Amino acid sequence: MVETRATVLENVRIAENIYALTFATEQPVPIRPGQFCMLGVAGFPLRRPIAVCKAEGERVTVCYRVNGRGTETLARGYRRGHTLPVLLPLGNGFYVRGEERRIAVVGGGVGVFPLISVIRAYAGEKEIYAYMGFRNRAAVCMQYELQRSKELVIATDDGSFGTRGTAVQALMEDFGRVKPDVILSCGPLPMLRALKNAVGGKVPAYVSLEERMGCGVGACLVCVCTLTNGAHARVCKDGPVFDLMEVDLDG
Ligand SMILES: Cc1cc2nc3c(=O)[nH]c(=O)nc-3n(C[C@H](O)[C@H](O)[C@H](O)COP(=O)(O)OP(=O)(O)OC[C@H]3O[C@@H](n4cnc5c(N)ncnc54)[C@H](O)[C@@H]3O)c2cc1C
Ligand code: FES
Repeated sequence: MVETRATVLENVRIAENIYALTFATEQPVPIRPGQFCMLGVAGFPLRRPIAVCKAEGERVTVCYRVNGRGTETLARGYRRGHTLPVLLPLGNGFYVRGEERRIAVVGGGVGVFPLISVIRAYAGEKEIYAYMGFRNRAAVCMQYELQRSKELVIATDDGSFGTRGTAVQALMEDFGRVKPDVILSCGPLPMLRALKNAVGGKVPAYVSLEERMGCGVGACLVCVCTLTNGAHARVCKDGPVFDLMEVDLDG
């Protein structure tokens, strides 16, 4: 984990309410797919957790939705040459075993972005089947990255782009044909619950959770979640990626 003063290279709108921020760290930082960073936004004591979407040496890209005041300030106030404190890489990230060849990635909303790092890491050596859900056509973005997958299905809630419905529905339509060895997923809780109902126990599946965070490094316990065995885990330190069958999504 590195604390760096990052320099903004680009901070541009890529879809309705969604921005891509590319920054340079002070030194190259090795980052696993699914890891995240804590971005310090001026005027806010708590840093904001955002997944790493792309990482190449010192150059890191994150994509974020303007959600509240912190991300709004990030979108409006940061231009090329501005600097911000960043802590990275954080969390465990996604692991893929050697024998797992066919990977289904299932993303919804801003959960699409950490999965782009999975697609970038594994598209060359594995077969990636991507199922990505967006609210509507205006929210669809990063298609050129998603298209690195062997197969890509984009679903929108209103059918204004791609197929109508959710990413989980799109996965289930293909499930028998694709026969994934593993499923990697990130998205809103209702989507993860639907995934668990649909495939829970049938195939190994790992999900990245989004929880409110304070420190991002395991010290404050703000981000604690419950496991199905009744134990507790810190999403920032023990996750954010958990075995779908080991995490309690209803708690
Ligand atoms: C591991 C992880 C990865 C994430 N990756 C992305 C991503 O790639 N792209 C993206 O758009 N969003 C991502 N999020 C959600 C993002 O952190 C929140 O949208 C953001 O912190 C909201 O900050 P705000 O100042 O705009 O909102 P405010 O509501 O003003 O924030 C107030 C406080 O609540 C926290 N908070 C509010 N909403 C969330 C939330 N949904 N999750 C966690 N903390 C929250 C903020 O960090 C802040 O401390 C991720 C969250 C986690 C935990
Ligand atoms: S955010 Fe502090 S322990 Fe997870």
